[in-house]
Amino acid sequence: MSENKNDKLTETSGTSRRKFVAGAAGATAAVSALPISSYAQVAGSDKIKVGLIGIGGRGSGAIVQNMNANDRAQFVAVADAFQDKIDGTGPRAKGIPQIAKQLEKDGKSGQMDLPESRQFAGFDAYKAVIDEVDLVCIATPPGFRPIHFEYAVQQGKHVFMEKPVCVDAKGYNTVINAAKVADEKNLKVVVGLQRHYQDIYTEAFKKVHEDGMLGDIVSAQCWWNGNRPWIVAREPGWTEMEYQMRNWYHFNWLCGDHIAEQHVHNLDIVNWFVSGDSDKGGHPVSAQGMGGRAGTEPKSVGEIFDHHYVEYRFGKEHNNAVMNSQCRHIKGCWRKVAEEIHGTEGILYLGAGKITDLKGETKWQYRKPRAGDPNPYQVEHDRLHKAIAEDTPLNNAYYGAHSSFTSVLGRMATYSGQEISWKEAVDSNFSIMPEEFDFNAEAPVKPNADGDYYVAIPGEYKLPWK
Ligand SMILES: NC(=O)c1ccc[n+]([C@@H]2O[C@H](COP(=O)([O-])OP(=O)(O)OC[C@H]3O[C@@H](n4cnc5c(N)ncnc54)[C@H](O)[C@@H]3O)[C@@H](O)[C@H]2O)c1
Repeated sequence: MSENKNDKLTETSGTSRRKFVAGAAGATAAVSALPISSYAQVAGSDKIKVGLIGIGGRGSGAIVQNMNANDRAQFVAVADAFQDKIDGTGPRAKGIPQIAKQLEKDGKSGQMDLPESRQFAGFDAYKAVIDEVDLVCIATPPGFRPIHFEYAVQQGKHVFMEKPVCVDAKGYNTVINAAKVADEKNLKVVVGLQRHYQDIYTEAFKKVHEDGMLGDIVSAQCWWNGNRPWIVAREPGWTEMEYQMRNWYHFNWLCGDHIAEQHVHNLDIVNWFVSGDSDKGGHPVSAQGMGGRAGTEPKSVGEIFDHHYVEYRFGKEHNNAVMNSQCRHIKGCWRKVAEEIHGTEGILYLGAGKITDLKGETKWQYRKPRAGDPNPYQVEHDRLHKAIAEDTPLNNAYYGAHSSFTSVLGRMATYSGQEISWKEAVDSNFSIMPEEFDFNAEAPVKPNADGDYYVAIPGEYKLPWK
């Protein structure tokens, strides 16, 4: 066993610095006894207690944006799998010191009240944070999202959660079911697909769906072709679980592959524009594609592909539209992150913020960026606090789940080399998560004797439900 201090923490309750007063079951019983109108109510003059689960790059940004969204917000509790991420001392860690520095810069230091007794490390630490707060920001690797979201909703808390929101069918079904409970409990949920809060996208959506500038949508293209992701070198004494948690990007149970982790943004835009539904979103009905691992990254790092190409098909209610999607993480290749929507009367280029007719004549051009333009990463938190204050409906979990599972469908198609239907994949309820969460538990995938991980071979890879 390693001497890692996180291992010691998981030996007991899995949560450091504070023992649970009541287990999850006890807490649930108490909350369920409340009338629905009593969930997560925050009266006019009250402080809003906010917690963070996953104090990495995005979580740190999100919590600062959350504090900037509302003077009444107080950052009161934090959880991370690793104590050194909280302290800002581990690999890729900036921790509490960075958040404190940024809040000071923003004149918001008074909104942070984070004694050691409300800093929790370990796999179960999320429960202690959720129990403590009115609103939780969840920014862990996506594999955990359904578990954390379900518990937050069960405990009657408002949620900001990062994308993607699932990496398998069980996760998707969990999020959809929890979203329905969130509606019943009148909870507000924002998902960090921030393009929904970005003017260029919302303006373009109006041009397409209010002004009809594209005619009928027939197809779409989208890309996330970028660079290879970060790698944390294995350290002696780490268990396999610790290696995978530190390198979560490279393992499907944590990340969903980069088609989920990055490309979900672009798939989500196409789902949004093709379905025309800003509230619940839409999704394709099938996918087939190809992909693999062609770049220089050794198989000893992890199991994900470095490129995917997927042809998604929408159903007849969406003109049988087709989406062609590409994502690649290989150094030195052509780069593009954008979406394009094709209609019978025009083409929308979202990267350029422009609509042309089919001959290329510009019909609409979004204005040039201006200093002081709203930052969508800030706007999403502003809207969340506004919805809580004014008690207006806000729940992004449905479209978050649809778009996240669109990426999972694509991954299953490229790994297997088969055509996959949305329905069969969702109905299978397949799960790729481990049985047990502990740094000494068995990891769901393991390297072979040469230290290499299995990378899916299309044509051989078995779909989990077949
Ligand atoms: N919307 C966007 O544009 C955007 C940008 C960046 C990241 N993100 C998303 O935010 C999420 C986090 O990304 P990041 O770049 O901040 O990663 P990160 O590695 O910097 O941070 C993740 C943190 O979560 C912690 N963690 C892992 N498992 C945990 C668990 N079970 N309980 C508590 N903490 C746990 C990790 O130790 C780490 O500190 C990802 O889903 C990513 O897709 C979104």
